[in-house]
Amino acid sequence: MEFAEFERSGWARRSGTYDDGFGAMTAGLHDRLLAEAGAAPGLRLLEVGCGTGRLAAAAVRLGAEVVATDAVGPMVLEAARALPGVRVLRAGLPGLPFGAGEFEGAVGAFVINHVPDPVAAVQDLARVVAPGGRVVLSCWDTLAANRAQGVFFDAVTEAGAARPAGLPSSSPFAPYATPERFAGLLETGGLTGVEVHRVGWTHRVAPGDWWRAVLTGTVLTSSLIEGQDAATTGRIRAGYDALVARWAEPDGTVALPVAALVAVGRAVG
Ligand SMILES: C[S@@+](CC[C@H](N)C(=O)[O-])C[C@H]1O[C@@H](n2cnc3c(N)ncnc32)[C@H](O)[C@@H]1O
Repeated sequence: MEFAEFERSGWARRSGTYDDGFGAMTAGLHDRLLAEAGAAPGLRLLEVGCGTGRLAAAAVRLGAEVVATDAVGPMVLEAARALPGVRVLRAGLPGLPFGAGEFEGAVGAFVINHVPDPVAAVQDLARVVAPGGRVVLSCWDTLAANRAQGVFFDAVTEAGAARPAGLPSSSPFAPYATPERFAGLLETGGLTGVEVHRVGWTHRVAPGDWWRAVLTGTVLTSSLIEGQDAATTGRIRAGYDALVARWAEPDGTVALPVAALVAVGRAVG
């Protein structure tokens, strides 16, 4: 399946189950992203790939004037429900329906890794942010660092599971997923003063809840498991349980290490 359609249809299927599972984990980075964006009372802030609206809600609490956007209609509906009084609209990267310099900042949490053309996406963000305003984007760090997702890929490999047919061969963002290359992407897209930070946090969750969160709140990771037969799925689940046990807490939860890259650049107009 073509990448953009794989992503759009995948996220549409996840819209009703994303928020309190996988969305509770990504929210661990939202305050940092808003701080990097300079979110403050009155700041005209664009959010791209808003999902169910958690980051926009946090920006509103800081007093920012937020416009929240997502490429996928059912996600826009979820966000609109969660953000009364906030302008929420369907708009994808690239192709934002805004004029040059309309915003004083832009932020996208874990969306650049889902767009069909990362360079065009950054160019679009650089265009709609006024000179001096910040564009802040995050992606995942390596699976070796980002164990909350790495355990799933390891469990799939250990189970000897074949890659289901029909998945896109790779993400257009994959070549940019290192600090140096992520910085280069923002510079190529027209931003200046670019910095990329490695950020880690801990996600505490019951192991069974995290298994369900990833199966109902991701597109690519879940599709590696969804298409498997029952025996293979059982082996993947057993491998997953063994891997996460390393981070077991006395209360029955696991304290999973999460790791992301946060890129910040300034628009030049
Ligand atoms: C991993 S979720 C992140 C959601 C939210 N930002 C968060 O931090 O939890 C990725 C989001 O990007 C959206 N998305 C995928 N492709 C997109 C594109 N080309 N432009 C804008 N949004 C896109 C999806 O619909 C989904 O809501």
